[in-house]
Amino acid sequence: MDARRPLLVTGSYGQLGKAVIAEAGARAIPTEGCDVDTIDIANRGAVTSWIIERRPRAVINCAAYTAVDDCEDHEDEARAVNATAVAHLAGACNTIGSKLIQISTDYVFDGTAKKPYREDDPVAPASAYGRTKLLGEQAARTADDHLIVRTAWLYGFGGRHFVGAIRRQIDAGNRQLRVVADQFGSPTFCDDLAAAILDLAAVGASGTVHAANTGITSWHGFAAEIARQLGARVEVVAVATSEFPRPARRPAYSGLDTSRLAELIGRRLPTWQDALTRYLGSACAS
Ligand SMILES: NC(=O)c1ccc[n+]([C@@H]2O[C@H](COP(=O)([O-])OP(=O)(O)OC[C@H]3O[C@@H](n4cnc5c(N)ncnc54)[C@H](OP(=O)(O)O)[C@@H]3O)[C@@H](O)[C@H]2O)c1
Repeated sequence: MDARRPLLVTGSYGQLGKAVIAEAGARAIPTEGCDVDTIDIANRGAVTSWIIERRPRAVINCAAYTAVDDCEDHEDEARAVNATAVAHLAGACNTIGSKLIQISTDYVFDGTAKKPYREDDPVAPASAYGRTKLLGEQAARTADDHLIVRTAWLYGFGGRHFVGAIRRQIDAGNRQLRVVADQFGSPTFCDDLAAAILDLAAVGASGTVHAANTGITSWHGFAAEIARQLGARVEVVAVATSEFPRPARRPAYSGLDTSRLAELIGRRLPTWQDALTRYLGSACAS
């Protein structure tokens, strides 16, 4: 990548966008972010001009309609951001020879697998969110130089996420937590993912790559580990998904095989338990 060209990050107020900008800053990469109040990526003219004027080395698209349950009733709005806007980004990147790095999700899989999903496993999203993100992947592939990074179960500074929700319940004095034990995935700390994304960009990776902290657990296992690391005296009760009906169907199993990531950047990401320790140990954790 041409070191004089900046990096552009969309969704810069989001938990991953913030982490990518912080990591790029630590690597002294000139970076500019946008969020919906400055550049709405669904506004083709605005986002195209923004990219073409800056001639970035790469655009990292962290912007998305991420309210998974809301997508069920607002699929058109979600598609506009998660897919149509990605086509705008791809078109602008092609005009000036920039790389498009699109962030995608484990929810493109149906969750019926019994072992971690590889990049070329068949996709079959079970939710509106997953369908719009899959269309976003297809749009990203129209960029001549593209990288699609599928990740999962994110938490990070300043975000709305599961770790914060469990912590708030503990802080409120709740002594019994009822948590779904029949959905399995890969909890991932945005700081570790941001480092992986920039490492992938640095080695010129392209195509599709799965990136997540190492290890797979259930939401129940994740909650029990959060409580343990916080030293909280709470009972974490395992419940079935059927006891918590929600508008969007989640995959029962969406562990990601990260072998390709390890081959490309020469390392696996730390375990999810190690990542959680570093997150909870930070004064900024919510
Ligand atoms: N969170 C997860 O567990 C998870 C798991 C797998 C993959 N991912 C993917 O990872 C990426 C980052 O997720 P995240 O958790 O960091 O999401 P996030 O915290 O919700 O951040 C997304 C950001 O994008 C902004 N945005 C929404 N529509 C926009 C638009 N039209 N133009 C510009 N900005 C817009 C959002 O603003 P508002 O908040 O105002 O809408 C928000 O600041 C997304 O692609 C997501 O699909 C997330």
